[in-house]
This record gives sequence, C-alpha cells and structure tokens, in this order.
Amino acid sequence: NTVPVILCGGSGTRLWPRSRKARPKPFLPLVGDETLFRATVLRCPVGEGFGNPVVVTGAAHLDHVEQQLPDPANTRIIVEPEARNTAAAIALAALTLPEDAIMLVCPSDHHIGDCDAFRASAHKAAALAQDGWLVSFGIVPTAPETGFGYLKQGEAIDGTGGRRVERFVEKPDLARAIEFLGSGEYAWNGGIFAFRVGTFLEELGRHRPDILSAVREAVAKGREDGMRFHPDHEAFAKVPSESVDYAVMENTSRAAMVPAEMAWSDIGNWQALHEAQDRDESGNAVRGRAELKDCSNVLVMSDGPRVSVVGASNLMIVVDGDEVLVCTPEGAQGVGKLSGAANQ
Ligand code: GDD
Ligand code: MG
Repeated sequence: NTVPVILCGGSGTRLWPRSRKARPKPFLPLVGDETLFRATVLRCPVGEGFGNPVVVTGAAHLDHVEQQLPDPANTRIIVEPEARNTAAAIALAALTLPEDAIMLVCPSDHHIGDCDAFRASAHKAAALAQDGWLVSFGIVPTAPETGFGYLKQGEAIDGTGGRRVERFVEKPDLARAIEFLGSGEYAWNGGIFAFRVGTFLEELGRHRPDILSAVREAVAKGREDGMRFHPDHEAFAKVPSESVDYAVMENTSRAAMVPAEMAWSDIGNWQALHEAQDRDESGNAVRGRAELKDCSNVLVMSDGPRVSVVGASNLMIVVDGDEVLVCTPEGAQGVGKLSGAANQ
C-alpha cells in the first residue's frame, strides 16, 4: 500500500483577503465544496491501493488539520515546531516509516480535476518508485511559468508508462522558461512525488547529508503523543531550510516522471483560482451572492454582501469580511505585495 504523505505548510498571501494567516489556503473551500486539504486526503482513498495517510504540518495549523481530517483516529500527524521547507518535511515522514514503504508526497494546495486520472498516475508512479526511481508527476505546460520546476523528458522506461528525467530545473528565470516551453521537451513538475523511503533517504544523504542528519537528530529526540509525533524543537531548528526540488530532485540521477494528464492547478493566485472554477459560457464564475450583467471573464467571490457588476470583463472581485479586493488577471501576481496582504 502506498502511504500518502500530505504536506501542509505555507500560507498563500496571493489569495488574500480570502486566505489569511489564521486560515490559510489549504483549509478553505476554494474550488467545489471541499477544502483543498480535505480534497487532497480524499483523493487517496484507504483500501484502493492507499494506506492511512501521514500529515506533516506546522503547530500553527494543527487545529485546522484535526478538524478537517476525514479519519483523525487513523491519521498520523507529524507536527513541525517551525517550518524548515519540504526536504525536511518529507524526511520527517520518511524517518517514521519502514524503509520499503512507498510514499506518495502530496502538496495540500492543489486542485486536481480528474481523480481517476490522478489515481492511475499515482499507481504507475508507485510501481516506478518500488524499482528505485524518484518519481515526479509531469504536467503538460501551458505557459512559461517561473514558479514551477521543469522536467526534461528522457527515454521511456520499458513497460512502466514512465520516462527518465534527463534534467530537473527548479524555478527557471523567464528566458529559460520560454526556451523550455518552446522546445516541447519539458513538462512541469506537478509537485507530487512517489518515493521508496529507503531510496529517498539514500539520495537525501548523498546530496544533502546535513539536512538528513539534522532531521534524524530531531526525530531521535522527538516525542510521541498518541497519533501525533513532535520532533525535538531545538534540534529541528538547526535543520537547513531547502525544498526537496533543490535539495534532491535537481541533483539525483534516479529521477523519473509519469505523465499526468489531468486538470491540475496549484491555485497560486486569483487568476489560477478563477480558471479552476466552473464557469459559464462567458467565462464568469460566482461564489456567494452576486448579479452580473454583460460581463465576461469576471470572478466574484463574496462571503456576505451582494456584489453587482455591469459591463465588466477580465476582473476579479473578492469580498471577505471588511476587506474588498478588485484585481485584473495581470495584477493577480502582485496581490501578496498589497499592504493588506502583508499586514493581515
Ligand atoms: N509541512 C510542511 N512544512 N509543508 C510545507 C513546507 C514546510 O516547511 N513548505 C512547503 N510546504 C508545502 C506547501 O504547503 C505546499 O503544499 C507544498 O509543500 C509545496 O510547497 P510550495 O512552497 O507551494 O512549493 P512551490 O509551489 O514553490 O513549488 C513546488 O510545487 C510546484 C508545483 O506547484 C515545487 O515542487 C515545484 O517544482 C512545482 O512545480
Ligand atoms: Mg505551491
């Protein structure tokens, strides 16, 4: 059985004012009825090739996690005393699982449209991981995004549906992203990984022994509390902060990918969130009370007041408590820089 390892860290200031420090993006129902976190857990149903999940999260998010878990009694939660990025978060899970377990690492801030396609890719990825590959989900790229990792697709690995990754480039600059997209040879890294525990620890130890040994110490000195595990605070504070993409995936020679042909969005900003909604034929999407007349490509999300819009196009309007955000698709990336978002 594959063990889903759900990563629940970061905050998401670009989705302010809906997402705030006290209730960050994974815990909000942003697409459909489920929150992104719950949807992530429910996507890997226990029994259908998946075991009970492990959640790795910060102490600040523990209440949200426990409230939203479908089966808290059977879910192990690793509580990070502070955030040290994804290499450390995955190592924490790995060091508390058997060597030969297969982890399916799932970020909790994605929307995935097609759960069956996701599960088919997950099972292919798990089989490859069993053979010693470090497996990414490859997404068909649609724009020269600089916030993603890029996978150069190598030769097919016979009989698996997967490919070698010739090169993994995390967050390239715009010029390189344009070049990668134009070449047709690259996929985006979906941020979902399948690793055999033993292989992952070996590769982390090879490329970042400092991270591995610091996390080992935090686990050795850690404390069990029922289904929760608390790594030692002092030891964990010394762990170098690095993402798994830079720490392991860019350096390993054992990288592979499975093509994941599914609607996928990392919901990184309001524009991406708009695109992930069910929209009418004019591209409008409404959540909450609103009246739209002669509008196209407008998103309205309101938790209270009725919003009326006439004759607008390419606009996003978000009402949340006493905050109102109006932004264009071009402005979406800059929302995190507003003083409201910074001082929430
Ligand atoms: N528990 C825990 N602790 N989770 C964390 C931490 C941490 O310290 N840091 C990040 N996470 C979680 C985030 O909540 C998110 O669910 C996931 O790990 C990925 O972290 P991000 O910070 O969102 O990464 P990114 O979006 O910049 O880049 C990653 O995802 C892209 C796809 O969305 C990379 O893997 C890219 O290569 C990839 O393209
Ligand atoms: Mg992300």
